[in-house]
Amino acid sequence: MARKKVLVVLGSPRKKGNSAALAGQVKKGAEECGASVETLFLQGMKISPCTACDACQKSPASGCVIDDDMEPVYEKLRRADAIVIASPVYWFNMSAQTKLFMDRCYALGGGDGHALKGKKVGILLTYADSDPFSSGAVNAIRTFQDAFRYIGAEITGMLYGSASIAGEIKSNRDLMKKARELGKELCRAKNRR
Ligand SMILES: Cc1cc2nc3c(=O)[nH]c(=O)nc-3n(C[C@H](O)[C@H](O)[C@H](O)COP(=O)(O)O)c2cc1C
Repeated sequence: MARKKVLVVLGSPRKKGNSAALAGQVKKGAEECGASVETLFLQGMKISPCTACDACQKSPASGCVIDDDMEPVYEKLRRADAIVIASPVYWFNMSAQTKLFMDRCYALGGGDGHALKGKKVGILLTYADSDPFSSGAVNAIRTFQDAFRYIGAEITGMLYGSASIAGEIKSNRDLMKKARELGKELCRAKNRR
């Protein structure tokens, strides 16, 4: 059987930050179960905002007309069996890096459906406030739920926790363990497509 492909997308500018630490655990769990894992660090990549030209929505769709660092990412997203998105909460929602990436995923849909349809998704969020409500994590959670429901992808697991300084989340042993379990779950899951 072919190895499952998991694509991890890091949406924090902190490569060794809290959301990246959770993503590292997901990667570990997925690799333990035999998946190949590739990690993308959005910070520093040139990803422009969607310009709403809608060329990607025509049938046959042309894909995205913007020539930037999203271009190779589209192919990676198409090939992946599961996708993990890790983001800090910035101003009561996902980070701007993550939102730009999400907006540009619009181009994976056209007349014949969205390329992420049926894929498994894991969401990881960290925030400094004490809970998902006061931190604004709920807004990001709701956005991911709506977006992946809209395109027909399945959120296999959504993990979130409170931490401020980079790496602090590692002391949340329970959450770190759950992230590793999520990696295994994503690797085992069968896609509906
Ligand atoms: C620009 C900025 C905005 C932030 N906004 C929030 C916020 O709205 N709510 C919150 O609880 N924490 C907020 N934080 C704190 C981060 O979410 C928190 O430190 C998180 O653990 C960072 O994750 P990272 O290490 O993966 O970057 C903010 C931090 C920054 C730098």
